[in-house]
Amino acid sequence: MTHPRTGRPRDRVLTMRGIGKHFGAVKALTDVDFWVNEGEVVALVGDNGAGKSTLVKVLAGVHPPDAGTIEFDGEPVVIDSPADAQELGIETIFQDLALCDNLDVVANLWLGRELRDGATLDEVDMEQRTWTLLRELSAKIPSVRVPVASLSGGQRQTVAIARSLIGEPRVVILDEPTAALGVAQTAEVLNLIERLRERGHGVILISHNMADVMAVADRVVVLRLGRNNGVYNVADVTSEILIAAITGAVDHSGMRRPDRADAAPHARDGEPVLDAAAAATDEETAGGTVIRMPRGGARRTARPRGDGSR
Ligand SMILES: Nc1ncnc2c1ncn2[C@@H]1O[C@H](COP(=O)(O)OP(=O)(O)OP(=O)(O)O)[C@@H](O)[C@H]1O
Ligand SMILES: [Mg+2]
Repeated sequence: MTHPRTGRPRDRVLTMRGIGKHFGAVKALTDVDFWVNEGEVVALVGDNGAGKSTLVKVLAGVHPPDAGTIEFDGEPVVIDSPADAQELGIETIFQDLALCDNLDVVANLWLGRELRDGATLDEVDMEQRTWTLLRELSAKIPSVRVPVASLSGGQRQTVAIARSLIGEPRVVILDEPTAALGVAQTAEVLNLIERLRERGHGVILISHNMADVMAVADRVVVLRLGRNNGVYNVADVTSEILIAAITGAVDHSGMRRPDRADAAPHARDGEPVLDAAAAATDEETAGGTVIRMPRGGARRTARPRGDGSR
């Protein structure tokens, strides 16, 4: 895959296959496939209870999955705890942001990872690095020495995102980052998400807002009732098509699974580009299923899954 704007090659960072998770009798996730490349924004959408938060909590090490596999940089991994996730380079910004309201911006960014100069905190270095990071994100924060309680919702979201970048993660997960924000603040956060993509992070964006998804995502993964219900490149899809997949007006849940290799390939506008199972192996190869690149770029082919090539 190449980056839609820079044309640089994009590597797969993370691949989940066949993920299952139940809570007692509730099947929150069944056989879910999901992947993200570096420098890519993947929107994860679905109705209330579709399993979006559960899927990212599997990645965040909050819920161990009951079934399925996770690969990070091509290696199988087990994510048993939030510390495991952080060590791999997966950072999650949950909706509550978990900021310390009484502390200033610098203190929030470096909490638990403070820079020291001998026995004392190196406040100057931490402040300088905070400004550098905020500038890189084109963030509009007037002062880094005010308590975060005094900041707007969009600015608080910015601080939470900046904090997640301190350890240079590979994957940044945002659960509904614009849900509580007004128009201008939403635009600011979407802008920030584009900066994350430019910095090469893989970004997973959970959102109910189709306008936000269409504005910022490269690819959209739809979950419905805990299952995959289509994967779309944003360049080829409309909000109406996404809403149909979300509500179940169209059903892609059984599309071209490895055990159903005879199903038709989909490459027309508005059709899901590929199902997650097939795309989990989307490498350059002759033959196979046509996949449309994000933003209407070149076509390429992908090897159907289950041919023993991986
Ligand atoms: N800790 C839990 N214990 C029991 N059931 C849970 C738990 N977490 C999630 N569930 C159930 O799993 C299903 C998926 O929930 P999840 O929170 O992942 O959905 P979601 O897509 O994030 O929804 P929303 O858009 O409302 O945030 C729901 O039926 C939910 O009730
Ligand atoms: Mg949720």
